[in-house]
Amino acid sequence: MKALPWTPVLLLAFLASAAPASADLGDILFKRKTTEGNEYPPAKFPHSVHRYQFTCYVCHDNIFLMKAGANAVSMDAISKGKYCGVCHNDTKDAPAFGSTFESCQRCHQP
Ligand code: HEC
Ligand code: HEC
Ligand code: HEC
Repeated sequence: MKALPWTPVLLLAFLASAAPASADLGDILFKRKTTEGNEYPPAKFPHSVHRYQFTCYVCHDNIFLMKAGANAVSMDAISKGKYCGVCHNDTKDAPAFGSTFESCQRCHQP
């Protein structure tokens, strides 16, 4: 019974030590870099969903520089298989849903 009070302390210590690696990464709301399609809802990138499946290095800095707004992401580039399109493309080997007319709103949530 004497050991009991230590349990939460150790648990907290463990969580604190684990915290930096799993630092809360928020959603990235893309700011428009093109004048085209300004009426369209901006694209949102949920870090958390992607973190379950990939380590940071899969994207940083191979696909994306680690700074909001630092990448010239556009629909054109995505369609050419760059940026989000590395994974979100319409090929059968793609690990994620494609960028087709059925999926616009999964990224551009109104
Ligand atoms: C699936 C790809 C992907 C993975 C995996 C990923 N990120 Fe990112 N990260 C992005 C994108 C996209 C952006 C936004 C880039 C932009 O706005 O041009 C970003 C931006 C960032 C930023 C900048 C935030 C800001 O406000 O400037 C940091 C810091 C970051 N990521 C850290 C991480 C860390 C740490 C991990 C691993 C725990 C990680 N990311 C995993 C895609 C990813
Ligand atoms: C390294 C591969 C990879 C890259 C790069 C990537 N994604 Fe994903 N994304 C995935 C996978 C895998 C899933 C989960 C499977 C699925 O839903 O198809 C996913 C899921 C999502 C979801 C659905 C989240 C949910 O709640 O269901 C959104 C939205 C999304 N990605 C947006 C983006 C955007 C925007 C970008 C570019 C800024 C991006 N992704 C770049 C692999 C990637
Ligand atoms: C995998 C996520 C994803 C999907 C799916 C997606 N987009 Fe995008 N879209 C983005 C990102 C990221 C940007 C770049 C940031 C921005 O300008 O909002 C973008 C940019 C845009 C823009 C701004 C102008 C441009 O060309 O860059 C428009 C308009 C747009 N998307 C429309 C669409 C339409 C319509 C669909 C469905 C056919 C679609 N998007 C599907 C992520 C996505």
